[in-house]
Amino acid sequence: MEKALHSRNVLLGVCYYPEHWPETMWEDDFRRMKELGLEYVRMAEFGWALMEPEEGVFDFSLFDRAFALAHRHGLNIIVGTPTATPPAWLTHRYPETLNVLANGISYEHGSRRHYTYNSPKYRELSARIVQRMAEHFADHPGIVGWQLDNEFNCEVYEFYSAADHAAFREWLKAKYGTLDALNEAWGTVFWSQTYTAWEQVHLTRNVPSDSPNPHLKLDEKRFFSDSVISYAQMQADIVRAAAPRHWVTTNGLFGHLDTHQLTNDMLDFISYDSYPMFGRTFPDGGEQPLLDRRYSMTLSTVRSISPNFCIMEQQSGPGGWVNRIEQPSPKPGQLRLWTYQSIAHGADLVVYFRWRTATFGTEMYWHGLHNWDNRPNRRTREVQRIAEELRSAGQAIAGSRYEADVAIVRDYDNEWDGEFDKWHGGYEWTSTLAWYKRLQRRHIPSDMLFMNEQTTLEQLSRYHTLIYPHPTIMREETAKLLEAYVLGGGNLIIGCRSGYKDETGRCRMTPMPGPLAPLCGVTVEDFTREEPDGSSPGFTLSEDAFHTFASFSTNGFAETLAVTSPDAIVLGRYDSSSYMNGEPALVENRSGEGRTIYFGGVFSDALVDQLMDRLELTSPAAGQLELPESIELTVRAHDKPIFEGQESGLRIHFLLNYNGSSETIKLNCAATDLLTGQRFVKGAAELEPYAALALVFDE
Ligand code: GLA
Repeated sequence: MEKALHSRNVLLGVCYYPEHWPETMWEDDFRRMKELGLEYVRMAEFGWALMEPEEGVFDFSLFDRAFALAHRHGLNIIVGTPTATPPAWLTHRYPETLNVLANGISYEHGSRRHYTYNSPKYRELSARIVQRMAEHFADHPGIVGWQLDNEFNCEVYEFYSAADHAAFREWLKAKYGTLDALNEAWGTVFWSQTYTAWEQVHLTRNVPSDSPNPHLKLDEKRFFSDSVISYAQMQADIVRAAAPRHWVTTNGLFGHLDTHQLTNDMLDFISYDSYPMFGRTFPDGGEQPLLDRRYSMTLSTVRSISPNFCIMEQQSGPGGWVNRIEQPSPKPGQLRLWTYQSIAHGADLVVYFRWRTATFGTEMYWHGLHNWDNRPNRRTREVQRIAEELRSAGQAIAGSRYEADVAIVRDYDNEWDGEFDKWHGGYEWTSTLAWYKRLQRRHIPSDMLFMNEQTTLEQLSRYHTLIYPHPTIMREETAKLLEAYVLGGGNLIIGCRSGYKDETGRCRMTPMPGPLAPLCGVTVEDFTREEPDGSSPGFTLSEDAFHTFASFSTNGFAETLAVTSPDAIVLGRYDSSSYMNGEPALVENRSGEGRTIYFGGVFSDALVDQLMDRLELTSPAAGQLELPESIELTVRAHDKPIFEGQESGLRIHFLLNYNGSSETIKLNCAATDLLTGQRFVKGAAELEPYAALALVFDE
């Protein structure tokens, strides 16, 4: 069943911590939230020590008073379960609830997220506080939904306490049944690692050269993910039983967590915390980094889980902790730009983090809408403008779906295995970024699609082109699904290092790309990594197919290919820059109505451009708009009329200018900006720095 936020309007909210402020400030805060145009407020996700000041003693009075005031001012309340921050008495009395590093050193009280999911005592005490909260607030007239915990696996996404080792053994018994099967799957005959009793089996521990068994490393990440899901399920079950009217979500995308499964198993929709300034302070590398625009790629991952979703934390000012993360302030217009970036990618509820910057604690510099002086400022005025715009445009936007004909395929197994395996891991990010950047800059909206055992041919067939850059771990069933997609007319793009591992991470003794070989029409005959100086074999493209004499790099890894299919053509051969000279590097194989292009290297921006031309990928707005590369285009559309008198579903073209300078666009037909009502006539138009528009064309 689809898990999406259903809203008839695009609305705004804010995160608020009543416990951080004198109670005398609350009324004024809630009143001004409404005046600013905010409709939702999230509270309580860090309030455990207040709600259970000592073991078994519960006191909801502070939040009762805060919730009552918020409700009186007409705000919809989102309640957070407080298990990300256990009280001091809890971890002091029950140290077994603390998470432990692989080297055996325990985390301690004093920050957050220092607990472990698999501690029976932590599960018991978490269940009780959630149960008491759910019972206490179930019928509160102002509460509309719950956020489980806060950002599962943020800050820490590995867990090595005694409880985790014990739970891991039970998880392995359920998965493999016998020690023999475990030893076989993990190849423990290698270096005499064979286990002869279950109590010998542990998660990663201290080993020389930090090189534990790679198959254990892959399984332990699957175990971490299952541990979160099991823990979250316990909370979701409690909330749903006590408060069936309220929706349930959680926030964030973090390591070693299959958020797709988490959402499908228990949430109404996923929420995400979007801080695009991180894209500027930690640039994505490569040519022309996307910077804050990279968050469009992350938002596309969120959308692969819920087509319409909530941003539970939207950047409100410069981010910063006292001792780390030092971000500049969003420039005038960027806060609005990033808000519409979220909406353009499917958000129908945007909650800003936070109402006012904390005056104490680790986040004294993670700025909210208001600074410590609590006065209106340019950021609050930007939010006020957004709220006014959405009052007229929100209903037309809400519920519309982002449209894309191209998807980049990812999967958790290859990402988790690739974190550790340096012989395929890094290539996926390089290639995904190359494809995403060029699709973005050529104004071709794209989706992220996460492959798993539930993925269907219908889901794949929504796209005319799928890019699956380097699926090293490849199940036979997945290869068959991809074959069906191509036979039905799909274009499939595959890169090097594909198909040579099975689900355990063991390498197949068949020619690469393993079960993908028949579909790709090639086998890999030889290969090499980049040279110590960073250079890689070069290749040229066939002139009649690409009309270019340029040489391209394999960008980190190079495979020579033997053509095995009569329906395959060689599109590129290695040049004289390496001993691979003359061998095939790029092959296109026709199967049924579709084709597969296999590249024996890592994708670069330049090669992607050539392949996009060959695939004839064009912008959906090509007939209506001429846009510079700095402008992002997304299209959200309704599949049926939503207003009286409409013939067909509204199509909304979002234009986002990430540049701090004006940009000129050209319209080939007149249009109206839903956000401002501004009319655009056919011809050139200037977009101001950090502009955001939601255009509806006259025809
Ligand atoms: C995360 C957390 C918030 C806050 C912000 C800023 O998104 O959910 O509690 O810590 O980051 O750091």
